[in-house]
Amino acid sequence: LGTPITPPLENAVADSFVFAFDIDGVLVRGGRAIPEAIEAMRFLNGANPYGIQIPHIFLTNGGGKTEEERCQDLSSQLQQDIKPGQFICGHTPMREMAETYGTVLVIGGEGEKCRHVAEGYGFKDVVTPGDIIKHNSATTPFRKLTPEEHSNSRDRDFSDVVIDAVFVFADSRDWAGDIQIMLDLAMSKGGRVGTRSDTFDQGPPFYFSHNDVVWSAAHEHVRLGMGALRRMFEVTFKDLTGGQGKLNTHAFGKPQVSTFEFASRLMGQWRNTEHGLVAPPSTVYFVGDTPESDIRGTNAVNEVADNEWYSILVRTGVYEEGTVPAYKPRITVNTVLDAVKHGLDREM
Ligand code: G3P
Ligand code: MG
Repeated sequence: LGTPITPPLENAVADSFVFAFDIDGVLVRGGRAIPEAIEAMRFLNGANPYGIQIPHIFLTNGGGKTEEERCQDLSSQLQQDIKPGQFICGHTPMREMAETYGTVLVIGGEGEKCRHVAEGYGFKDVVTPGDIIKHNSATTPFRKLTPEEHSNSRDRDFSDVVIDAVFVFADSRDWAGDIQIMLDLAMSKGGRVGTRSDTFDQGPPFYFSHNDVVWSAAHEHVRLGMGALRRMFEVTFKDLTGGQGKLNTHAFGKPQVSTFEFASRLMGQWRNTEHGLVAPPSTVYFVGDTPESDIRGTNAVNEVADNEWYSILVRTGVYEEGTVPAYKPRITVNTVLDAVKHGLDREM
C-alpha cells in the first residue's frame, strides 16, 4: 500500500496483497456458512478499520455444478455477490483438456449435472455411468437406474465406442457402481466398454478433480472424499490384476502447484477487470483447513513463485486442534475472520 492510510478511505483498494479462500471447512460446512465467514466477507468488502476493499478469490477442490451455479450458492450462503471471474472449483482446470479427447466418461455429482458441466467446457462426446448401465443393466448388480435416471441416460450402442479418458468431476453418488465401471474400463481393451484385455495395460487415463481423502462437511468428524475413491479404485485394480496391470491416474486440484498457478492467472485477471490493478500482488494470503491440500500447495507455490504465498490454517474444518499438521502453515487461527484480520494487521 506504500503510504500510510488514515481511515476511512472511500473506495480505496488494497493493491499489494490479495486473499484466496478454500471453501469447505473455511467458509461453508454442510451447505451452510460458517458464521464468521459472513463477517469476514464484509471485512474484505470495506467493513474494516481502514475502509479498504481487499481483492479476493475462491479456490475449492469441490465441484459438481457449473461455476455460475456454484457462485450463486456461495453468494447466498455468504451474503455477498460472488462472480465466476473470482472462482475456481476442482474441475475448472479440466476445461483445458476438452480438445484433447474425443469420447470421455464423466463420473460424479448429482443427476446429469456433471455431463452438462463437461459439455459446457467443450467436451464433444460425454458418456455417464447411467448411459452404460442403461445399455447393460447387468453392469452394476445392485444399482438400478431410477425412472428419472433411465430417461435422462442416453441410448447408445457401446459395441463400437472407445472411451478415450475418464474424468472424475465430483464426488461419486454411487461408489460401488462407479468403481465397478472404472475398473471395467481400466481392464478393457483400449477403453472399449465390455471388453477385457489380457495384459490390463490398455485402459484410458483417469483424471480426478482432486485427491482429498477426507473433507469437512456437516458431520462433526471428517467425511470420505474423492481421494478415498481413488485409493479404493487403485488398490482394487492391483488386487484384480495381480499387480500385473498398468493404471494411468492423475489428480488436479490443490495441492498441485499447477492449480495454484492457474489461480494466480485468474487472480491477475480479476484484480485487473474488477479493481483496475495491473502490477501483481506482493503477497497472496491463502486460507485453508486441510494441511495436505491447502497448506501443502500454498507452501509449495511459495517456493517457486515471484511473490509471497502465505499459508493460514483455520480450526473450523479438517485440521484438528492438538494434532500436528502434516504441512506447517505460517500461522494457525481459529476462524476465517481471524485470518483476514491477521493479513490486514500484517500489511498495515
Ligand atoms: O469435495 C470437496 C472437498 O474435498 C474439498 O473442498 O473447498 O475444502 O477445497 P474444499
Ligand atoms: Mg477445505
